[in-house]
Amino acid sequence: MKTPAAPLINIKSGSKTYQGVYAIRDVDFDLYPGEIHALLGENGAGKSTLTKALAGVLELSEGQLFLEGQAQNFKDPRDALEAGIAMVFQETSLVPTMTVAQNLYLGEEKFFNRLRGLYISAQQFLQGLNFGVDPTLNVAMLGAAQKQMVEIARAVLHNAKVIIFDEPTASLTPEEKQHFFKLLNDLKAKGVGVVFISHALEEALEHADRITILRDGAHILTKDAADMDREMVIQAMVGRDLSDKLYSRHAGSARRARGRKVLSVENLSMQNIVKNNSFSVYGGQITGIFGLIGSGRTETAKIIAGVVKRDFSHGGEVYLDGKPQRYRIPEQAIQNGIAYITEDRKIEGFFETMTIGENIYMGDLAATGKSGTLLSASRRKSVAAEWIKSLNVKALSDEAKVVELSGGNQQKVVIAKSLVQRPRVVIFDEPTRGVDVGAIQEIHELLNALADDGLAVVVISSYLPEILNLSDRILVERQGRIVEEFSPEQATEAKIMYAAVH
Ligand SMILES: Nc1ncnc2c1ncn2[C@@H]1O[C@H](COP(=O)(O)OP(=O)(O)OP(=O)(O)O)[C@@H](O)[C@H]1O
Ligand SMILES: [Mg+2]
Repeated sequence: MKTPAAPLINIKSGSKTYQGVYAIRDVDFDLYPGEIHALLGENGAGKSTLTKALAGVLELSEGQLFLEGQAQNFKDPRDALEAGIAMVFQETSLVPTMTVAQNLYLGEEKFFNRLRGLYISAQQFLQGLNFGVDPTLNVAMLGAAQKQMVEIARAVLHNAKVIIFDEPTASLTPEEKQHFFKLLNDLKAKGVGVVFISHALEEALEHADRITILRDGAHILTKDAADMDREMVIQAMVGRDLSDKLYSRHAGSARRARGRKVLSVENLSMQNIVKNNSFSVYGGQITGIFGLIGSGRTETAKIIAGVVKRDFSHGGEVYLDGKPQRYRIPEQAIQNGIAYITEDRKIEGFFETMTIGENIYMGDLAATGKSGTLLSASRRKSVAAEWIKSLNVKALSDEAKVVELSGGNQQKVVIAKSLVQRPRVVIFDEPTRGVDVGAIQEIHELLNALADDGLAVVVISSYLPEILNLSDRILVERQGRIVEEFSPEQATEAKIMYAAVH
């Protein structure tokens, strides 16, 4: 890329430490006007930390931040936003209980003497950006793509020169992703500088002008995306050759035969989201469920796990070992051996101010139905240590709180918290969202080991290569029910996708 003389924003020798340990160390980074810059690296590499320093969310321990050549010391994100730097977080920062319009004009409501004015103004603004979002809706009602539109709108509204996205595409459908990158190109054409973090390497190679790679908090390289390929990126991320057999099943590994029927649902229905859904899952194998976001996959899983209730009448049945079940609370499902590992880790997955060990212990307690402090502190520690090791959870300290972990490592804690319950049926909802290439492999190995151990493993994913690689049988969900089943031999990406959208 031909880069103009002056960067829009840059960091010189930036470091950030927590209790004396470096999260990023001596990192240089720059972004030019009209540039799309991808930031890549393994879980815990320091990507979120670096971007938070750019956006005034945290202060560098050492080093200096410049905006258009001027040294900056942002007090907080609001300060950075005033200066023209907006950040869209890994977990959304919108206020869920407020409307779209209130979120857009947060802190500026005083300029509107009536709510109506606020809505009209928001409506016009969103329309001007071609965003189909109703400004009067509560943000809690929006899907991931729409929430992102609101965040982008807020950035544009503040005339941001720099917009930073932390894993923006993780929960978008293929069409929404296309739309998102089209938007980035519109911003680029206006001279906005864009930084985005992603674990989907192809995405970065295809849409970024330049790529920066961090590893263990250090800057490894910055290069034109056109001069890189997937191998080079992975090599730089992990620091060694990681043979890229991620999504190709090991030669000779046979699909597993089905064991006993462990769980089945019949005519399961919930409002208009789950509609007469029927299927079974078997022990000793992995059942993959593919469906686009919004196809009812997650709701079906949540009904099974007692998190959400099916319709009171004509809601269908859930059978575990042939016996009908109707759980009133998730603990009942857990005590019966059903684990559901949520896609929405921030809201449902863990207690963020507790340590890794305490979270795993909470999972243990829920399974045994015991309360209080029955596990001794030393036993609690050793159970935690075991899981931290087997899932390779990385934190700066053993006693780290979950909120202090990187996104991908939080996901691992959510998994550990459920597996400590020794379930017989385990439903993973998007198990590798936000997880780096190396850790995807580890999690896939874990899922395979669970199935080999005889568990009924269900993997819900909207990532086709993941479904094709893992599944012993593949179910496709569309508009609230399973519409097709494929054996892995028959299945192709095209056939599955066709079933999912038609
Ligand atoms: N508030 C905090 N307190 C202590 N350690 C922290 C805190 N925030 C981040 N860290 C640590 O800093 C390191 C870098 O984390 P960061 O969130 O930047 O990683 P990341 O590259 O964004 O990873 P991911 O892809 O998993 O989101 C990690 O080891 C993390 O545990
Ligand atoms: Mg992160």
